[in-house]
Amino acid sequence: MALASGEAKNCPPSAEREDLAESSTLSASSFPEYRHEVKQVWNHNSAYWDSYMGEGNDFVNVLCWPAIEELLEIEPGQMVLDIACGNGLTSRRLGRLGARVIAFDVAEEMIRFAKQRSSDEDGDIQFHVLDASDESGLERICKERIDAALSNMALFDMAEIEPVFRTLHRLLKPGGCFVFSMMHPCFNQAHSALFCEREEVDGEEVTTYGVRVAGYMTPTMHKGRALAGQPLPQPYFHRPLHALLSIGLEAGFVLTGIEERAFPASHPPGRQDVSWGPNFSEIPPVIIFRMLRP
Ligand SMILES: C[S@@+](CC[C@H](N)C(=O)[O-])C[C@H]1O[C@@H](n2cnc3c(N)ncnc32)[C@H](O)[C@@H]1O
Repeated sequence: MALASGEAKNCPPSAEREDLAESSTLSASSFPEYRHEVKQVWNHNSAYWDSYMGEGNDFVNVLCWPAIEELLEIEPGQMVLDIACGNGLTSRRLGRLGARVIAFDVAEEMIRFAKQRSSDEDGDIQFHVLDASDESGLERICKERIDAALSNMALFDMAEIEPVFRTLHRLLKPGGCFVFSMMHPCFNQAHSALFCEREEVDGEEVTTYGVRVAGYMTPTMHKGRALAGQPLPQPYFHRPLHALLSIGLEAGFVLTGIEERAFPASHPPGRQDVSWGPNFSEIPPVIIFRMLRP
């Protein structure tokens, strides 16, 4: 799903944003000026996304979903919110586990594909068009307190994430959890690039695959393509771990689970040897968190 981040076009942080970063992690992590563009781009790319992604690629099937299933521990009948559900691929997986699913996405075209793909066999799913930063909208679609919430590979696509954490804290039952998977902000972001080095050591050729990181601390927006050939680049929002997790902790959540997932060395090789796959089995492109509402 994610490109080798070196392919993305970077937008260097402005002096203004650096000032903000010093004064407040929360406001520095927010990019409300991009909300409209995010919606437009995802609507524009939705048909391409839906045909490429279908019911899930290797990032979803190998890295994200097994960890999500472990961390969410869904029980039949539970009410689960699927945040930024895209074409609904995780909503259908949750529905088939017996959850009652409320799913939403900001892009109406994505929701059109989500509805097209879903049938009664996928269980009890309601789809809505909604921006995750619309706090009253979230309260409107969740008519009762929810047991759990999921956001698969989407928080870095959202211009603002404070409102969703704040609202979830009100909507989740005590003991309920929010599980979210992300491109790993340390290794798979705008200012990182995959590399391969070959050298001779004691007469033997040695190949090393690694990640070079040139920027991390400052929240930034950059544009990139999640899928090769995607019509428009999308805005991505890089938030370092301290900024990301502080938002959840300050909203009242407790961190109760964390998984870092890399492709196993036995995974089939990709089209290029310098792309996320078996050559990078020691470096996780994806991180998954569980935050509990006490
Ligand atoms: C990378 S896709 C992931 C979709 C889905 N979760 C999946 O696993 O396939 C990111 C999604 O986030 C949605 N999105 C971005 N900002 C959003 C927002 N503020 N509120 C709701 N959805 C948003 C986009 O429309 C897009 O469908």
